[in-house]
Amino acid sequence: MYPVVPFTDRCSIPSRLLAVTKLYVMERGSHRCVAISSIQRDPKYFEDPRNEKSNCFEPNRFLDKECDLINSEAYLPFGIVSAKNSRLKLHLLFAVDSKTTVPMELKIKRIFQQKDSAVVYYRATRNFDFFKKRGIPYAKPMPFLGSMWELFFQRLSTAEGVEKVYNLDPESKYVGFFEFETPILVIRDLDLIKSITVKNFDHFPNHRMAFEPDVETLFSKNLFSLRDERWREIRNLLTPAFTSSKMKSMFVLMRNCAQEYGDYFASLPADQSKELELKNAFTKYTNDVIATCAFGIDVNSMKDPKNTFYVYGREATSFGRAQSLRFFAVRKFPWLCRLLGIKVFNQKIVDFFNELIARTIKVRDENGIVRPDMIQLMMETRGKLGPGKELTIDDMTAQAFIFFFGGFESTSALMCFAPYEIGINVQIQKRLQDEIDQVLEDCNGQVTYDAINDMKYLDAVILESLRMYPPTVISDRVCVKPFELPPRVPGAKPYVMQPNDSMWIPIYGIQHDPQYYPEPKKFNPDRFYDDPKQMSNSPSFLSFGMGPRMCIGNRFALLEAKVLLFYVLAKCDLAPCAKSSIPLKLDRKGFTMVSENGFWLKIQPRNAKRAEPEKIAIPGTTMLIDKIRARHPDN
Ligand code: HEM
Repeated sequence: MYPVVPFTDRCSIPSRLLAVTKLYVMERGSHRCVAISSIQRDPKYFEDPRNEKSNCFEPNRFLDKECDLINSEAYLPFGIVSAKNSRLKLHLLFAVDSKTTVPMELKIKRIFQQKDSAVVYYRATRNFDFFKKRGIPYAKPMPFLGSMWELFFQRLSTAEGVEKVYNLDPESKYVGFFEFETPILVIRDLDLIKSITVKNFDHFPNHRMAFEPDVETLFSKNLFSLRDERWREIRNLLTPAFTSSKMKSMFVLMRNCAQEYGDYFASLPADQSKELELKNAFTKYTNDVIATCAFGIDVNSMKDPKNTFYVYGREATSFGRAQSLRFFAVRKFPWLCRLLGIKVFNQKIVDFFNELIARTIKVRDENGIVRPDMIQLMMETRGKLGPGKELTIDDMTAQAFIFFFGGFESTSALMCFAPYEIGINVQIQKRLQDEIDQVLEDCNGQVTYDAINDMKYLDAVILESLRMYPPTVISDRVCVKPFELPPRVPGAKPYVMQPNDSMWIPIYGIQHDPQYYPEPKKFNPDRFYDDPKQMSNSPSFLSFGMGPRMCIGNRFALLEAKVLLFYVLAKCDLAPCAKSSIPLKLDRKGFTMVSENGFWLKIQPRNAKRAEPEKIAIPGTTMLIDKIRARHPDN
């Protein structure tokens, strides 16, 4: 009579046909409500359901074994499938007293009163005519979700969403988008992007990612989120960590890690082909490189996947749905999140990394240890920044953590998409392995920093991978002083951006535009082969952003990925397997750039192939001999 849950729902997976009076087709993904409360009060199923005769409820109907009402499809207080297994035994005693209302009255309680609902709705939609009023084409918004509704309902991956907005009006220099209720200008024109990010940087010096410091220190204090003067100070402080000479010393740390991973894959039994999920394997490598280069500790997550550094690092950076929502909530409603104690990161993770940095500094100070890593660099600034500006442990942890935010997901995404394309393109793999073999021969089996940076085809493969699958699909800027944009199309009015107005740079859309990259959905490293510098410095290649706020870790990321690919392909062959999805589909669930079904490939030691060499005929005879690989270091 009083089902605690008055209705339930189901979402249709395959299309179904329902026979009611005529056939009705249910679309995939459509929702249906099961009105439990109404069914249980329908006289068709329960005689006199409200028991109006005696005006009290009637347990006796469930004693009639013949009817077996409790097992009937109309008895749904515990839902549909589980109804038969969910009978509850209540052993409670009740009595009526003076406060008991007989008969009971059901109270209808609203979450919002009508007046409040109108205010909330008004606030969520009041800006929706922003672009219309200014004559700018825009992606249609939905109350509360803005133009992001297709991402929230998982109709599109984030990258596809960006491409869709970018293609909204190919003639326009800019179009509009609503991030929830906030209007965002999406800049399509390359000259304008350059003007905003480089020439007029002082009008757009910051990213939008503003977090309240007391809500999320790891985010709010790291370089990406810092603003204005504090950003400049910290950027200047960290830049020396990414110079060529620093990269050269970190290269040795990376090479040790990459070699271990290459050896590990090659040590898999030669007769046994092994299916490997790249994301799982290569995020371990990324993690170990961050551990050694940024936090100054050595871990091997392939051999010891339960090490705390890896487990907490994964937890902090794997932005699934729940964490992404918390991320948006903390950004949009910091006051509410502070009130409710909602944080993006679990406090134990923050404490772990803070303690790690504090302990490392203490041990190094006490023992005079010097290591070519980021902590060292930050330690060396002590006493030089002036009162009130010195780096605290929180600051240092936040800076070391940029390797996690900036580097972990993005670099491991690169290290999944690149080998994946190599694995499914035999010719590309062969050409790359030939280049690797040649370098190994020239360097006596141990690649050097200069040699790896001179590898033209490896460079082209990595750049093409970043072009086709940019791990960061948009970047953003906030306006701090009024700035006049040129008319969006000839003859239109110019548009003046005001302080606090935001804009997006649609990296994925630009890098998939056929006017800049013919056949953009084709993986073709040759685009970057002849003149990689000119191509990667052009405003149509934006994977690392542009201008003074360009990615600080770009050289680090390129080197890290190249070293790994070098050692994996020197020792192993990659090939598609039954679980590989070709063509690859981007995931729609989270906000990060990953494949829907993972990155599955078969990995085999190259020696396995060499055990059965290809045969060639000796000209003029019927004899066959083994074809020797001309440039392999073992030969
Ligand atoms: C393939 C790997 C990577 C990609 C694709 C990537 C991409 C980007 C992009 C697009 C931006 C924004 C640039 C702009 O707005 O103009 C950025 C900023 C940033 N990245 Fe990376 N990144 C990568 C790796 C790394 C690594 C390894 C680090 C580690 C240090 C890092 C640290 C940062 C930081 C700190 C910023 C903010 C810079 C600032 O605001 O001054 N990134 N990155």
